[in-house]
Amino acid sequence: MSLKIRPRRNRRTEALRQLVAEVDLTPERLIWPLFILDQETGAAEIKAMPGQYRWGRKDALEQMKKAINVGVTSFAFFPVIEDKDKDKKATQALNPKHDYIDFLKRAKDKFSDSLIITDIALDPYSSDGHDGLVKDGKILNDETVEILKQMALVHANAGADFVAPSDMMDGRIGSIRSALDQKGFTDTGILAYSAKYASSFYGPFRDALSSAPRSGDKKTYQMDYRNQKEALREVALDINEGADIVMVKPALAYLDVIAAVKKKSSVPVAAYNVSGEYAMIKFAAKAGAIDEKKAILETLYSIRRAGSDMILTYHALEAAPWLK
Ligand code: PBG
Repeated sequence: MSLKIRPRRNRRTEALRQLVAEVDLTPERLIWPLFILDQETGAAEIKAMPGQYRWGRKDALEQMKKAINVGVTSFAFFPVIEDKDKDKKATQALNPKHDYIDFLKRAKDKFSDSLIITDIALDPYSSDGHDGLVKDGKILNDETVEILKQMALVHANAGADFVAPSDMMDGRIGSIRSALDQKGFTDTGILAYSAKYASSFYGPFRDALSSAPRSGDKKTYQMDYRNQKEALREVALDINEGADIVMVKPALAYLDVIAAVKKKSSVPVAAYNVSGEYAMIKFAAKAGAIDEKKAILETLYSIRRAGSDMILTYHALEAAPWLK
């Protein structure tokens, strides 16, 4: 054939492919989500997430060290609250003396250069398993935001670099921003779960925290997966209200949303490669259906290519050495 243009020429050797690659990914762009048990030591594997554990506080600190050694310097923490400590008002979310809060302080003291991100939502603490207060089957917006503000202050005071509201209540970013500023936490950032969809892919996470909704679903606050424009609306609102970083969650079934948000957003964009996405790769690999390492790398790069500046992923620790 007399072809002047042959795209295959640019794919000929590994060196060439490295040269023309459109995106890079380094461990520093990964954020590792960790589940913290209400006990000092120990590790309990999460059945639906092979290779991921709920860690005792001391063990979690050791895991952080391991991660930092391979270049993963950012962490997102989620507390495992015991059933007996959960109630309708999510009281423990505001307890500054809770051992989880003490853990945050220890983590920041020990690894002052790391970035600590804490989740702001009521579900781990709520006997209803919802992100907000529940009254007569309804999720209360404004009353919930009042609690989230206080919760953000408790975390900021413990040394959180970023608070990450994952609750999807209206107006929470602006309210949390003013609450932080009023108390002098002007340097504490907000990573907003701006476009968080009501997703089946959170199943393993809810198992890990025993935080599944006890009744109903989360569709009156988390987004409908048929919508993309709505994501842009949420993102614009959150940026207006003071979000420093906006997030799309989950990642894989929402790569189009990540791309659209990246195009419009004036702040950095994060994506959450969620528990169900992690589980799919792990179980498919266990069954011999796919090559685990290749599937993980392809997944992470695809999220990056879609436009994500950073990725929350349970693969962080295993993938970091492959990205070096
Ligand atoms: C709760 C929260 C959830 C996740 C992060 N924060 C679950 C939910 O909304 O029900 C899911 C993360 C994952 O699946 O990895 N506010």
